[in-house]
Amino acid sequence: MEIILDARNISKSFPGVLAVDNISLKLCKGEILALIGENGAGKSTLINVLGGVQKPDRAQIILNGQSVTFSSSDQAIRAGISVVFQELSLVDGLSIAENIFANRQPIGMLNKINWRQLYQQTQEFLEKFNLELNPRTLVKNLTMGQKQILEILKATSTSPKVLILDEPTSALTEREIKCLFENIRMLRKQGMSFIYITHKLSEVFQIADRVMVMRDGKKSGNERVNNVSENDLISMMVGRKIKNLYGIRGSAFSETETVLRVVGLNRKNVFEDVNLELRKGEILGFAGLIGAGRTEVGRAIVGVDPKDSGHIYLDGKEVHINNSKDAIIHKIAYLTEDRKKDGLFEGMALSNNIIAPSIENYTSVIGFLDRKRINRYVESSVLEFGITTTSIMKKVLYLSGGNQQKVLVAMWMSIQPRVIIFDDPTRGVDVGSKADIYQILKDSASRGVGIIMISSELPELIGVCDRILAFHHGRIMGEVLHKDFSEERIMALVAGIVNAERSQSTSSAR
Ligand SMILES: Nc1ncnc2c1ncn2[C@@H]1O[C@H](COP(=O)(O)OP(=O)(O)OP(=O)(O)O)[C@@H](O)[C@H]1O
Ligand SMILES: [Mg+2]
Repeated sequence: MEIILDARNISKSFPGVLAVDNISLKLCKGEILALIGENGAGKSTLINVLGGVQKPDRAQIILNGQSVTFSSSDQAIRAGISVVFQELSLVDGLSIAENIFANRQPIGMLNKINWRQLYQQTQEFLEKFNLELNPRTLVKNLTMGQKQILEILKATSTSPKVLILDEPTSALTEREIKCLFENIRMLRKQGMSFIYITHKLSEVFQIADRVMVMRDGKKSGNERVNNVSENDLISMMVGRKIKNLYGIRGSAFSETETVLRVVGLNRKNVFEDVNLELRKGEILGFAGLIGAGRTEVGRAIVGVDPKDSGHIYLDGKEVHINNSKDAIIHKIAYLTEDRKKDGLFEGMALSNNIIAPSIENYTSVIGFLDRKRINRYVESSVLEFGITTTSIMKKVLYLSGGNQQKVLVAMWMSIQPRVIIFDDPTRGVDVGSKADIYQILKDSASRGVGIIMISSELPELIGVCDRILAFHHGRIMGEVLHKDFSEERIMALVAGIVNAERSQSTSSAR
């Protein structure tokens, strides 16, 4: 097979860490290479070098038989390597069309942008990916999933020889993933080659021909997908076997006391008549398709999003929560699905992020911060949550994606919450760390914390929750108790196929 990309001896270090340590890889025409590895293993750094974003310490890159060096991503794109980055890079205030063709708009007479052609070309692109979107729609009005698809569209629009995707499906639904895979298969038939980074090991088997594993900056495996099992991959990634991915519950959930009660929550056109009870020590799952209103209900409970009507009770007393500050006062933690937008303070040190919601506990009467105590606490959190970093003063921006997610978890645990609302807790997190996060959730529940977990991954909900509520078009369609958990049953509810009765004893909030 014709080799399209031959990258040799790539190394890249940052202060205190050798992120990529002498990696070589070959990619054939039309081949799909999966790249996997723990958080911080160096995957993104490697592809940042290949995509011209970061200057390597050492590298030889041969593309299509020619030796190339890039000093910008534009150069890499022109040579034929496009990258869809882990964090989205779209401009919110511009339209879909303007984003896709940024800096490459079709030019008409008098050197003016030919808008008709721009919208026309965009429309064709959107149709190719089965997207029912208007090219004129502003990006800020799109969902996370739609934005992610748009990033991919933008990268393919330059017709690259090699398309690199860094965790492209972390915010996508099953349906969107299927559509993405169909498109990847179509493009590979036309000769496009792919490097595909993912933490979802099932995707490796669905889409890739070959898989390369990275560990601590080094290559720890390079296999044909047909020759390996999921467990083989985990061992190569983590260097150990993971026995209980979904964690172990200290004691079975049996509390009966209600910690959080939501009555008659409404928001026009978003969700309707939401009633629920969360018990102490319970992990309650919200299942549903994108747009079913799960995230919005979570956000309304913590006052980040508005509600038209409804009451919220904590330990039997009505509370009024209008913003995240109120939520913190009531010890409700909300971990957002979009950590970049409304979760972390990226430009600030890891240490400052972790104590941000509980900063008052570390302030003296005259307003000085007790740095010693802060450092002690943060050091212990870094250990407890397994955050890989060279220093607690490192800016969050420079942590790997999965480690950023762990910082978010550590940050909210610092308020010692009574209730945690957790939206997509393991987005971008490697298998080993996933297991850690599930265990942290289960341990918190065992201590009596009530947890709401919002997730699109059914196996995750089934593995972690005590009870699951299924959302469909902004309504709770039904409830599934632990003893009745099955993917089929939950799928049927979220798809609105069955209208299961909700058991009065556990969920009807009056
Ligand atoms: N700009 C930077 N400055 C300093 N350190 C960095 C920078 N970018 C990455 N690193 C460090 O390099 C190492 C590799 O990070 P990288 O982002 O490549 O990991 P990754 O494999 O993509 O992880 P994840 O699965 O979490 O996305 C990490 O220790 C990270 O903190
Ligand atoms: Mg990464």
